[in-house]
Amino acid sequence: MSDEARKILVGVAWPYANGEKHIGQIAGAYLPPDIFARYQRLQGNDVLMVSGSDTHGTPVTLKAEAEGVEPGVIIDKYHEMFVDGCLAMGLTFDWYTHTDTRNHWNVTQAMFLRHMANGYIYRDIQRQWYDPVAGRFLADRYVEGVCPFCGYEDARGDQCDNCGRLYDALELKQPRSKLTGSTDLEIRETEHFFLDMGKMNEPLLRWINEGKDFWRPNVLNFTRGQLELQELRGRPITRDIEWGITIPLEGYENKRIYVWYDAVIGYLSAPIEWASVTGDEEAWRQWWDAGVNPDARIYNFIGKDNIPFHTEIWPGMLMGWNDGGEGRLNLPYDVPANEYLNLGGEQFSTSRGRVIGFNSVLEEFQPDAWRYVLTALAPETSDVEFTWLDFMERINNELVANWGNLVNRVMGFAYKRFDGHIPAPGALDETDEQLLADIKAGFASAGDLYDAVKLKSALIEVRRLSQRVNQYLNDKAPWKLIKEDPEAAATAVYVALQAIDWLKILWGPILPFASEQINVMLGYTEPIFGRQYTQRVDDDRGDHLVLRYDHAPAAGRWAPSILPPGQAMQPPTPLFEKLDDEIMAERVARIG
Ligand code: MF3
Ligand code: ZN
Repeated sequence: MSDEARKILVGVAWPYANGEKHIGQIAGAYLPPDIFARYQRLQGNDVLMVSGSDTHGTPVTLKAEAEGVEPGVIIDKYHEMFVDGCLAMGLTFDWYTHTDTRNHWNVTQAMFLRHMANGYIYRDIQRQWYDPVAGRFLADRYVEGVCPFCGYEDARGDQCDNCGRLYDALELKQPRSKLTGSTDLEIRETEHFFLDMGKMNEPLLRWINEGKDFWRPNVLNFTRGQLELQELRGRPITRDIEWGITIPLEGYENKRIYVWYDAVIGYLSAPIEWASVTGDEEAWRQWWDAGVNPDARIYNFIGKDNIPFHTEIWPGMLMGWNDGGEGRLNLPYDVPANEYLNLGGEQFSTSRGRVIGFNSVLEEFQPDAWRYVLTALAPETSDVEFTWLDFMERINNELVANWGNLVNRVMGFAYKRFDGHIPAPGALDETDEQLLADIKAGFASAGDLYDAVKLKSALIEVRRLSQRVNQYLNDKAPWKLIKEDPEAAATAVYVALQAIDWLKILWGPILPFASEQINVMLGYTEPIFGRQYTQRVDDDRGDHLVLRYDHAPAAGRWAPSILPPGQAMQPPTPLFEKLDDEIMAERVARIG
């Protein structure tokens, strides 16, 4: 990589290892970072895309109890399921790990101690719901009730799914125990550690008011609103549960660190684990250490329910760390949170059986079909509806009609009529020059949109450029020209192939599988993107599965290179499958 390569950390929300993820989550938090990361790599920047399964907390223990197994069984099962999904969907994590690792425990405990030492963690007595029937405190999701802010009836103890607000579980109205169903709950006292978020309110407000105008308005307004109202206060970051990271102090053996305190630390611990396993222990500093590289950019891709954790709590935790002087860490550069993709007017909901599973859909439809539709629908600024009819129409009328047919038509003709080789063009006329100039300009126009995480707009721009080639071919009609003027036909086919060769790069971040296929059909032997694979990493908490990505040879491909005339092509094969009512009905039924 060149010296000017920018270090870009693509931090992706850590999915709970408690079930199959659904396509709403993929559209919101997992696909967008991959598109962004692929673009940045093509551009030649130094991307480190990290995440992992969130293995702690009550989301995992509730699932384990429901299935009557140990939490470890649940996390292995769903961690592997998500990794399989990422491989199939082409989500190119440089390092996808999980939080039940020795490394993550160490980094979390070190941060906890430094927050203590810097005066950002204090001890206090907390009043908590207690279920006398179960004989247990009801941490987080073990209690449900009515949201104190919006009145939503199934609000959880830690956060309201409807309005996204965080509150103290004691504020819930009509609380009931998830363990026994009891509504006869007591309030009991218990000692806990608190993160002093009140102290962070002012510094966070100053930070959010400095040069964040490019942030998405939903993220900025939500955060600024809370900070201006001085809403932050001490938050308990330990729990009376047995599953989770232990507190690195004597006398608290029955308590554990709260899942949200440890999970966000993953953005730091994953690069540290990546660096130590891949051989350069200090390499993570290029992205994180403000003393080594203050110009690194850290992005956090999340769904909107995660906003307060990523624009308040996590940056606040980093400020609390930095207050210790040495080893200051970079704060997030941007937090491109998405709204929700909904199913028929309601949110996807695992508990209510309203889901379209991530792994299931990939057994029935091509990954690029999903990548296309979920980007075209991207809920970047408002909630969006998903319907199967719309899915089919977008595949057939946009993806196949605009791009797939164009590629197959030109490639098929070129392969058949020019003996399997890229034809040599004659002199270019004005129409030829104009087309090539227009497509070439896409490297700047679409590039700027990808860079600004305006992925839906990037898709629309690249689709517009593909349409330009369709127009060009309608004008030139090389299939007619070939009889009277073979040289003019050769020129038109060459120009169209050159445009396709560039468009494969412009489409690459969104449709990597199709672009790789086009690359092969055009006769290139060097792939566009790197390779994804898994490996196991061993530590004293047991070995865990990690997803990796080889960068070579993507770097520096975001440029209009010359398609070599005479290059031997590979026999063209269709890019996308066209869908009809019958296919849809049958496959959708299988998905359930
Ligand atoms: N596990 C959380 C969820 O699924 C997200 C955690 S994001 C992290 O909503 F940053 F905290 F890791
Ligand atoms: Zn609410």
